[in-house]
Order: sequence, then C-alpha cells, then structure tokens
Amino acid sequence: MYGMVWYGLTSEKRLRDAHARLKKRGVPLAVNQVNYSLIYRTPEENGVKAACDELGVTLIAYSPIAQGVLSGKYTPENPPTGPRGNTYTPEFLTKLQPLMNRIKEIGVSYGKNPTQVSLNWLTCQGNVVPIPGAKNAGQAMEFAGALGWSLAADEVEELRTLAREIKGIKMPIEES
Ligand SMILES: NC(=O)c1ccc[n+]([C@@H]2O[C@H](COP(=O)([O-])OP(=O)(O)OC[C@H]3O[C@@H](n4cnc5c(N)ncnc54)[C@H](OP(=O)(O)O)[C@@H]3O)[C@@H](O)[C@H]2O)c1
Repeated sequence: MYGMVWYGLTSEKRLRDAHARLKKRGVPLAVNQVNYSLIYRTPEENGVKAACDELGVTLIAYSPIAQGVLSGKYTPENPPTGPRGNTYTPEFLTKLQPLMNRIKEIGVSYGKNPTQVSLNWLTCQGNVVPIPGAKNAGQAMEFAGALGWSLAADEVEELRTLAREIKGIKMPIEES
C-alpha cells in the first residue's frame, strides 16, 4: 500500500481537490497533517476532519498537546516564555483552567496525566494519529502512556464542551 502524504490541507476544498487530482493519477491521498488538539479544533469545525473520514485519509495531528500547554505545566502565574508566551498568555491560561482541571480529574480516575488524557482525546476521535514532539526520553515515555486505553464517550464530549467555552482567544492561525 502506498499513498501521498500531504502537509497542511487545512481547508475542506483543498483536501477534496487534492484527493480528486491524485485519484485521477491513481494515487491515493493517505495522510493529511494539520494542527489539531483539544484547544485547536479547527479541523472538526471547518469540515477537514469529516472529509478525511469520508475519503479514507488519515488525519495526522501536529501540536497535539498545544506545545506543552495541555500538559498542565503552565499556569496564569507561570506562563511560557519566548514565542509560546505570545499565544498562551496569562489571560488565555486563566480561561483554560476549567478545562485543565477536568482533564486532571478525569486523568486521576485512569491513573493518567493531562498529557496522556489530551492525546487519548484525539485518538478517541477516530482516524486521528497525534504526533507529539518530545525533547527528552521522559516526555516520549509519557506519550506511550496515552496508548492502550480509551476515555469514555461522555468524557470525550464533556472535554469538547469545556474546550468550546474558551472563547475570545487568539490562537495560532492556519490560513485556508
Ligand atoms: N506540519 C507542520 O506544519 C507542523 C507544524 C508544527 C509541528 N509539526 C510537527 O508536529 C510535532 C509536534 O508538534 P509541536 O512540537 O509543535 O507540539 P506538541 O507536540 O503539542 O508539543 C511538544 C512540546 O511540548 C513539550 N512537551 C512534550 N511532552 C511534554 C510533557 N510530557 N510534559 C510537558 N511538556 C511536554 C516539549 O517542549 P518543552 O519541553 O520545551 O516545553 C515539546 O517540544 C513535531 O514532530 C513537529 O515537527 C508539524
């Protein structure tokens, strides 16, 4: 089995066009890599996730823990420094707290940490492969703990609902 791996088909139209063009040449579009996490759910809001499902294209989720934010290591009192600090401001981190608190609570019931819950939430969407970035072996080991179990369906929806409530936040933009 072979197929084209595409980076950044961030609109449904572009995805469908690429799929159709490749199909004419007998090449399946196997993978589309886009930014997708609990706090950046644009692929499910703009039709890209649904179209991937329909067309049999695996969605690769980059930045799946929002550059470490969904690990819970940042707080309004301890925001990230450098470029991450431009997006994940104390104001953002304050609005994020109800979601992070629930992620932590749910994680405790499974013996999992927030990073693992956040990655598991993505795999629970089906047809999604998150590719978290690790800077050391410990972080990579944590990612492995996101595998082999599943959040309950009502927990998946509860976290989505809490995430939707984080409004008025300037997030990284992927132009479509
Ligand atoms: N296709 C594209 O346009 C595109 C764009 C961006 C990224 N990507 C790819 O997607 C992958 C991941 O994206 P990403 O690095 O932006 O985001 P991410 O996976 O959401 O965040 C990774 C960062 O979070 C921190 N982290 C990792 N594990 C942690 C843990 N267990 N606890 C606390 N902090 C942890 C690490 O940084 P610190 O330790 O420094 O905090 C790490 O670099 C990479 O392979 C990257 O190449 C692709």
